[in-house]
Amino acid sequence: MSPTRAKTKSSAKPKKQLPAAIRGRSRRERGRLGALNSAAVVLAARQPRLAVGTWRLQRLAQHSFNGWATRQRTRWWEYPWVLEEVRRRLDGRTRTAADFGAGRSPVPIELARLGLTTTVVDPDSAKQMNKRVGGEWAWTDYDRWGVATMRSGVEDASAFAPGSLGFAISVSVIEHLPAEVRRQGLRNMADFLEPDGVCVLTVDLVRGSSQLWNRILGAEVEGADVHGDLDGLVQECTDVGLELEESVRCPVSDRRVDVQGLVLRKVSGTST
Ligand SMILES: C[S@@+](CC[C@H](N)C(=O)[O-])C[C@H]1O[C@@H](n2cnc3c(N)ncnc32)[C@H](O)[C@@H]1O
Repeated sequence: MSPTRAKTKSSAKPKKQLPAAIRGRSRRERGRLGALNSAAVVLAARQPRLAVGTWRLQRLAQHSFNGWATRQRTRWWEYPWVLEEVRRRLDGRTRTAADFGAGRSPVPIELARLGLTTTVVDPDSAKQMNKRVGGEWAWTDYDRWGVATMRSGVEDASAFAPGSLGFAISVSVIEHLPAEVRRQGLRNMADFLEPDGVCVLTVDLVRGSSQLWNRILGAEVEGADVHGDLDGLVQECTDVGLELEESVRCPVSDRRVDVQGLVLRKVSGTST
């Protein structure tokens, strides 16, 4: 063997061992999983408990939806955070939940796994707007996971009997709705909840501001002044008897939005 060759061989860097989660996968798949998990990496540093939920829910999504999981990075905080807020409040509440605007998400499946009789209420706005977007906007029938699925909106006051829900969940939905529809939706959620029932919401805000994101599938919903901001939304909740328990900023943002998580409790004896 020539001296040059021997030198090259001995100075070659030892091959880096890939993390177990991606070992044996194709380069393409590794890239996809890397992007998917960038939010999990941020979370692992800041909120390790939720990061575990992130990994678990990513796997649940991929297992349930033929390998698909959303690449909207904020979701990987929203999903485990929402579920953790529900889990912490299970005791003493009716085991019924609705996910308003679930699209395609592991949340309703996990709510059912927590032992909650779960219903999804989603009108399929992509179809209504004649858009082919797929992803987390894809209307999904959750029947096979034991979750009833209604093609309707949060503004439908007949969706549930008053006081019949222990939990009302909505992940990144109400900010996409016109203010009038949003207010009707909040009134309904308050009405559907039992006294002390819990409403968990996440909302997109225009990045660096408290303005509610005012677009749906690329179309402007209404002027920003009409659409409102986070303080206005919390006030609307208070007006219908949903008292703010927690307001938390998602530690990851995407290019255009910050995300806020809200936990609200139906004040006993309130009827809207
Ligand atoms: C941004 S996607 C969020 C999907 C899912 N919650 C997630 O975590 O990714 C918005 C969803 O809200 C639904 N939606 C739109 N208008 C709605 C309404 N009035 N009531 C309930 N859901 C609605 C859409 O069909 C879509 O599935």
